[in-house]
Amino acid sequence: MKIFTTRFDIEQHLLQSRNAGKTIGFVPTMGALHQGHLSLISQARQHNDEIVCSIFVNPTQFNDPKDLEKYPRTIEADIKLLEQAGCDVLFNPPVNEIYGGNDHWRLDIGETEFLLEGKFRPGHYQGVMQVVYKLFSIVKPDDAFFGQKDYQQFLVISKMVDHFKMPVKLVMCPIMREPDGLAMSSRNVHLTTSDRLHALVLSRTLNWVRRNFNINDMLRLKSEAEQMIEAEEDVELDYFEIADGETLHPATERSKTIVALVAAKVGKTRLIDNVILTTDS
Ligand code: PAJ
Repeated sequence: MKIFTTRFDIEQHLLQSRNAGKTIGFVPTMGALHQGHLSLISQARQHNDEIVCSIFVNPTQFNDPKDLEKYPRTIEADIKLLEQAGCDVLFNPPVNEIYGGNDHWRLDIGETEFLLEGKFRPGHYQGVMQVVYKLFSIVKPDDAFFGQKDYQQFLVISKMVDHFKMPVKLVMCPIMREPDGLAMSSRNVHLTTSDRLHALVLSRTLNWVRRNFNINDMLRLKSEAEQMIEAEEDVELDYFEIADGETLHPATERSKTIVALVAAKVGKTRLIDNVILTTDS
């Protein structure tokens, strides 16, 4: 696997690949890689000739400096995992390679940015859009792979790509879970042994909602789900919503895609999870 830390070097390399007729599949990450990230690499391998992964802990998407500081960084292990997964190129730039002195921009994508996660993490999605825009401009991928785990992030990035008419196809990949149901996340390493058990209430509740889903009874399901989560020790619910998969407003019987989304603090660690309940396809 080739490793680049500067924009210039990776651009030169990818120019050659493109000139040789190769398509480029891109998996942006913040590192501390797990099977969820690696599943995106293997999807990318099915679609594209050359696979690029980026590892960049993006400061502008952290609204809490402590969260940024304690975000896990495991670059040596990550490199080994990417090599085993058959990744061709790693882009691992320092912060000053991505952010020059004075680039403050914001993009208005409407209310998607402010709902659900947006309410609890002000500015987060502006930071995500900034970095993904910059990474897309450097890598110029044909396809880019993101996890359903961050469902709202996928919507936000889709809106940004539409806004700038960027020539990239976005692919949403399924959530990888531990055998007991916990959604894999780089943040899971912060869970204590007892947090780890309490955290299972999230996937258990989503599963219960999926099994009992009935379009006419969404309000009752939502309120029972909230009660199940609130009853769990050491778990503080931020939100549980059964939402229209495009607008993220509470679903109605006319919503084409319906998603149940949850966020909660388990001990000191904030986790998110979701399940798609219906799609029109
Ligand atoms: P990060 O949290 O490292 O996630 C990178 C990608 O892995 C995202 O697309 C995320 O949805 C996906 N992912 C995480 N957990 C997953 C799981 N259990 N199953 C499947 N996919 C999973 O998301 C980010 O980084 C950043 O916001 C980023 C897009 C890189 C911008 O900085």
